[in-house]
Amino acid sequence: MNYNKKSVKDIDVKGKKVLLRCDFNVPLDKETGEITDNKRIIASLPTIKYLLENGAAVIACSHLGRPKGEFKPELSLAPVAARLSELLGIPVKCAKDVIGEDAKALAADLKPGEIMLLENVRYHKEETKNVPEFAQELASMAEIFVSDAFGTVHRAHASTEGVSHYLPAVSGFLVAKELEVLGGALDEPKRPFVAILGGSKVSDKLGVISNLLEKADALLIGGGMAYTFVKAQGGNIGQSLCEDDKLDYALEMIEKAKKNGVKLLLPTDTIAAAEFSPDAEPVVVPTNAIGDDLMGLDIGPDTRAAYAEEIKNAATVVWNGPMGVFEFANFANGTIEVAKALAASDAFSIIGGGDSAAAAKKFGLADQISHISTGGGASLEFLEGKELPGVACLLD
Ligand code: 3PG
Repeated sequence: MNYNKKSVKDIDVKGKKVLLRCDFNVPLDKETGEITDNKRIIASLPTIKYLLENGAAVIACSHLGRPKGEFKPELSLAPVAARLSELLGIPVKCAKDVIGEDAKALAADLKPGEIMLLENVRYHKEETKNVPEFAQELASMAEIFVSDAFGTVHRAHASTEGVSHYLPAVSGFLVAKELEVLGGALDEPKRPFVAILGGSKVSDKLGVISNLLEKADALLIGGGMAYTFVKAQGGNIGQSLCEDDKLDYALEMIEKAKKNGVKLLLPTDTIAAAEFSPDAEPVVVPTNAIGDDLMGLDIGPDTRAAYAEEIKNAATVVWNGPMGVFEFANFANGTIEVAKALAASDAFSIIGGGDSAAAAKKFGLADQISHISTGGGASLEFLEGKELPGVACLLD
């Protein structure tokens, strides 16, 4: 994929109306509806400030949740507009609709240095279906499209890709940074390049495992997905998670690692328990000899030490997916130790969003990581080497 895309710095935005796609898909408190984490709003500020300071009128848009084409008031972006306004210290008007009269009237009146927010683009089913007429309506309010929603660049939706057929399209700073960091790690990593993959399912990471076996020097596997690899090699994994239809794939990947000279590390020991529960009694067992009544819920102490050593000697580290059930204190140590090793290492350390980003934050280590991607699904697809529609559509 070509990551060398034009950014807001490469075009003149003065006096222009800019349609800015942000990822304001923020977590909300189920009871009060309040925003519980404004990280994504903060991440959008550099581009917004740059556009406003350089004389653009900013028409921001985003999705929030998955309203599936229905107007769901609980998924309104109005609270985001209020929070954005607080953070910017200027008014942010929230339109009552997306491409309706209110949005268009506000957009028409918008002056350079002012910002407004459209309502949730997923209130229209045409958004996720990428219907050209809907994209054209969105685009009709502006003269330039700026893509700064890295979390949704893997979606070919009207507001992420469709509008680029009607407007010159460039990246904002957040997308540009992700492309530079993730693209750099994959294409020209400082070596040794160590990748760590975790999470529960091999099937979620098929393409990533295969692609990283072409790029990395070592691949460390943890989390529930490790047991499919162990069983494929004849180990007894007891009640641990396993995808029996992926056993052949696991063997294929083990072969691929050998062929490519990539060090593929699997957990040698496991913290197992008789039940999936925060109070379950943890026991340390060899990963290939887990008792029939036990399930593996975390990597064991020897594995933690071996993985930490690999991370210590790396120059580039990419991590995606927890090593165990880190939500339960008894089974969080593998994830904590990997996060600590990343934080302590001199390597350029990258966390590919999602659960591992949440874990680094939970354990207070996030600010010691070189780059934490703002995209979960997007960074995973990036690591798979897939073409991302929201990036491919930007001007080269
Ligand atoms: C995310 O939260 O990962 C992005 O906002 C994308 O959301 P989606 O999975 O609903 O497209």
